[in-house]
Amino acid sequence: MQKITIKDFLKKKGKEKIVMLTVYDYSMAKILNETKIDAFLVGDSLGMNVLGFPSTLQVTMEHMIHHTRAVARATPRQMIIADMPFMSYEPSNEVAVNNAGTLAREGADAVKLEGGVEVQERVREIVKFGVPVMGHIGLTPQRYLTLGGYRTIKDENKLVSDALALEEAGVFSLVIENVYAEIAKKITEKVSVPTICIGAGPHCDGQVLVIHDFLGLGEISPYFARKYLDLKTEIHEAVEKYVNDVKSGTFPGKENYKSKES
Ligand code: KIV
Ligand code: NA
Repeated sequence: MQKITIKDFLKKKGKEKIVMLTVYDYSMAKILNETKIDAFLVGDSLGMNVLGFPSTLQVTMEHMIHHTRAVARATPRQMIIADMPFMSYEPSNEVAVNNAGTLAREGADAVKLEGGVEVQERVREIVKFGVPVMGHIGLTPQRYLTLGGYRTIKDENKLVSDALALEEAGVFSLVIENVYAEIAKKITEKVSVPTICIGAGPHCDGQVLVIHDFLGLGEISPYFARKYLDLKTEIHEAVEKYVNDVKSGTFPGKENYKSKES
């Protein structure tokens, strides 16, 4: 199957839903390459899910480069979108263009950054110099301190003007996180680029899930996610079997080792 491009993404709007998952490493990228997922998000949620940080604020360019490279080594047909981490784009256009360029050089097909009107110039500059940008509005976890926690964002006028500012700056797509479904619907109707939702209802052009929530590996199960597997339970059961097998002497079995006679 052919590599999915920005063009394919744009063509799907209003016709076919776009389906995304976060992917943080080579082995999962290899497995998911064989599925109908459209795009992999190397999300800065890897900070909590993979690295054990308390929030995404601790995630650096170094971490994002490390994981983007790992996903890119799987050469998936899916588009690889890498999150720009906290403070990798905020300080200046120059910093933003440099860091977006670095992620593209390391294998990202596009970058994602958080914010609306206030990042419009950053987005414009990054796109101008050749790196496609996905926007991210609504709950922006990198701003949880000033937002007063992880909560539903309800200011409709601000959300709409943020979406329009990003569209105008040239984003090819837009994540809408944790806003009322009616507002996400309105934005989806207003902008020409596909909207990808998480916790923002069914009216968007696509959905994204964090893979740890999807697989049942996360520490909590957010209400807006659906647990398609309960891998944590399955892992515990498998480990119990392994421990029992070793202790009882049934592992390794004859097929698992060589001896002089065989
Ligand atoms: O980092 C992430 O996983 C994200 C998604 C929740 C959109 O940004
Ligand atoms: Na993110």
